[in-house]
Amino acid sequence: MMAGRPQINLGLEGVYFDESRICKVDGQKGELYYMGYPIAELAARSTYEEVCYLLLYGKLPKRTELGAFTSQLRESRQIPEGLLSLIRSMAKKAHPMDTLRTAISALPAYDKEAYDNSTAANLRKSARLISQTASITAAIGRLRQNKVYVTPDNTLGHAENFLYMLNGSRPSPKEARIMDTMMMLHAEHSSNASTFTTIAAGSTLSDMYAAVTAGIAALKGPLHGGADEAALRMVRAIGDPGNAERYIDQAIAKKQRIMGFGHRIYKTYDPRAKIIRSYLLELHNTSSKEVRRLTGIALKVEELMVSKLGKQKGIWPNVDFFSGPVYVAAGIPADLFTPLFAASRVVGWCSHMMEYWRSNRLIRPLDYYTGRLNMRYVPISKR
Ligand SMILES: CC(C)(COP(=O)(O)OP(=O)(O)OC[C@H]1O[C@@H](n2cnc3c(N)ncnc32)[C@H](O)[C@@H]1OP(=O)(O)O)[C@@H](O)C(=O)NCCC(=O)NCCS
Repeated sequence: MMAGRPQINLGLEGVYFDESRICKVDGQKGELYYMGYPIAELAARSTYEEVCYLLLYGKLPKRTELGAFTSQLRESRQIPEGLLSLIRSMAKKAHPMDTLRTAISALPAYDKEAYDNSTAANLRKSARLISQTASITAAIGRLRQNKVYVTPDNTLGHAENFLYMLNGSRPSPKEARIMDTMMMLHAEHSSNASTFTTIAAGSTLSDMYAAVTAGIAALKGPLHGGADEAALRMVRAIGDPGNAERYIDQAIAKKQRIMGFGHRIYKTYDPRAKIIRSYLLELHNTSSKEVRRLTGIALKVEELMVSKLGKQKGIWPNVDFFSGPVYVAAGIPADLFTPLFAASRVVGWCSHMMEYWRSNRLIRPLDYYTGRLNMRYVPISKR
């Protein structure tokens, strides 16, 4: 290390920037807790609406509290007409993540409370954001295919209504339950890239919509939320379980990333991936030929990766690996996976933003300057 050179943690690896009571990730043991509750217990016994309440209010709701919160979510589902026109104008030309990000950044135009930064207003905005991201994602899925916009059905639960607005028909109770659990599993994950980006944008005292828009922008990349779409594309490209070993060996030899594997924090099996994998096995016998084919390839890739890179390098399946076939079984195309991830994670972003605002400090880290100094300005005619 050069004299005077500060410690630089590339990728902010190992850097703590604040305390939080929202989410605990134990990457060595493969454990995940929302507000102290183990993820497996929430996935088995809770609902997405209840998990949203837990993350926003810090406690499990009483029946009346959950009822009021659920009504608030339902009342916020309808997409404003002007926003629908915006979505219509973009949906066929842009990636759904870009359309979602643009639509969410336009939401302040339809919210009288957009610039009220009180906790009460931010809780109401969080409920609107949860409902609107799901409705907008479903609307993008339809409008880009020239299908009519399906208005929300307020008799349905959150995940059930999302599938209804996307597919135009009510899902079976089993399909609705699986989607509800997928949303719970994606709801929160401590200080990852998109959550940190959300907090950094909000730490300037911008507003909830600005902060969440930044979070969506960060989620898009294939090293973060975009890995779910990339992983399914990889599984499709492999084409058959028999091709998996050659594909993996070539990728490892060329030092390419296998999408849906590896994690900055988990050095063992991601507990969310374990749960999603169990859904895949459950779906295997009842799903279409295509889902069974994708599942067969995914399971083979998992087996090979665990034996080749799992124990040796700590590279295990993450939340994004098995999601693809589960989403395909629910009628969701690959490029809607990451918007759906955003629609599930939005509650985590809002929860962290409100927690950070309680003792806000502008986020302003340093970079270590290694460029030149005292350069002489040469007029353009003399260069
Ligand atoms: C998520 C991710 C960015 C975390 O990476 P990180 O903590 O920054 O780790 P690094 O990029 O420093 O990688 C460490 C080593 O593991 C390897 N590695 C990490 N993920 C890998 C993957 N998915 N496939 C193959 N090798 C991988 C790297 O090549 C590197 O090897 P080296 O030490 O021989 O150079 C990384 O695992 C990745 O790119 N995964 C694929 C994308 C993905 O699924 N993202 C979703 C995460 S939830």
